[in-house]
Amino acid sequence: MSAPTVEKTSTTPREGAFGNATGLLCRECSHQVELGPFYACPECFGPLEIAYDFPAVTREQIEAGPANIWRYKALLPVPGDIEQSPNMEPGFTRLLRADNLGRELGIDNLWVKDDSTNPTNSFKDRVVACALSAAVEFKAKVFACPSTGNLANAVAAAGARAGIKTVVFIPSNLEKPKQINSAVYTDSLVAVNGNYDDVNKLASEIAGEEEGWAFVNVNVRPYYAEGSKTLGYEIAEQLGWRLPDQIVIPVASGSQLTKVHKAFQELIKLGLVEDKPYKVYGAQATGCSPVSIAYKAGVDAIRPVKPDTIAKSLAIGNPADGIYVLDICRQTGGAVEDVSDEEVRDAIVLLARTEGIFTETAGGTTVGCLKKLVESGQLDTSLETVVINTGHGLKTLDAVADQVSVAATIDPSYAAFAATGIA
Ligand SMILES: Cc1ncc(COP(=O)(O)O)c(C=O)c1O
Ligand SMILES: [Zn+2]
Repeated sequence: MSAPTVEKTSTTPREGAFGNATGLLCRECSHQVELGPFYACPECFGPLEIAYDFPAVTREQIEAGPANIWRYKALLPVPGDIEQSPNMEPGFTRLLRADNLGRELGIDNLWVKDDSTNPTNSFKDRVVACALSAAVEFKAKVFACPSTGNLANAVAAAGARAGIKTVVFIPSNLEKPKQINSAVYTDSLVAVNGNYDDVNKLASEIAGEEEGWAFVNVNVRPYYAEGSKTLGYEIAEQLGWRLPDQIVIPVASGSQLTKVHKAFQELIKLGLVEDKPYKVYGAQATGCSPVSIAYKAGVDAIRPVKPDTIAKSLAIGNPADGIYVLDICRQTGGAVEDVSDEEVRDAIVLLARTEGIFTETAGGTTVGCLKKLVESGQLDTSLETVVINTGHGLKTLDAVADQVSVAATIDPSYAAFAATGIA
């Protein structure tokens, strides 16, 4: 297998097009490759990731930047004038204290990083912004992705704003709101009969056949994945430039979890936060929990599964970054947990009723796992904890439709209201 190109003539980037990025580095054998639309190591087929030569970056420089992910542009593979290009300006979402939920779960110091307020209501706007910049640099004529839903929304919207053709591929059984949230931005939403892993395989095939297609999470994946680091940077900055003691992150491909860890490590190396231990926890739905199964079995290899869960955005049975998630969770002293669909639904309602935050099934999975980690004693409740909400509940309304209802339907009279006993 050779690394596919987006367009044969566009593999040499312009000077400074990728900021302080110096090349691509194999995560398995450390082989170095020049910057280009490559994602697999030519030596061992391992995944490539961006390597940098960071300049001295100060907190003040970052704080003087825009209130979006481009405040961290020095740490991303993007040009110095990235703010000038048409993009969705995602990021710098709220970090909320969650005292009510903390009291409910018995956690002393709990925060929710709420990424559901991004432009298309999930954290995927972060990764897509970086992937789009790379796609433009590689002169891609089509901006595309295989998606479990949220990525499709983000790609379709970002492509529309940038004026580039988008084609997004989703499993045909995806939640209706996520389908509509893509179709409104693009006339090329393709529903594939199969699960995400089938869709992903198809995307890799198309990437090999078609010239000029940038699949954000396939052939420009190294650039795409770096966008997830901004979630980690923001949490540290919003905590007053320090790292939390522990963090709970949902896992589908595992990219987001590994990049938050990478972000924390970079901040330590750059002297922007104090070096300290922190624990990383991964959250999966039991119906698609290949990483949690491997963690609990104490093995290093991840055996792919066939997903069957309401947490469709996390339904990746063969996670590309699964082994790295295992490694990080074990090395930091965290864990990987999973929860049933019923626990996912309960957790969605719990977060809504304690903190006024309506999360989608991915957040239900994360909060459900947080609860389970406390109950099983795997999480130290005296430590400062951050839980990430990655997507908005309006995208998965059906998941809780049977869980909640109107309290009463009454005639418009005081007597009728009084009879309900609500007052
Ligand atoms: C809402 C939401 N949370 C979390 C994830 C997991 O992301 P990753 O594939 O980086 O593990 C996804 C993936 O699509 C998602 O849509
Ligand atoms: Zn390699």
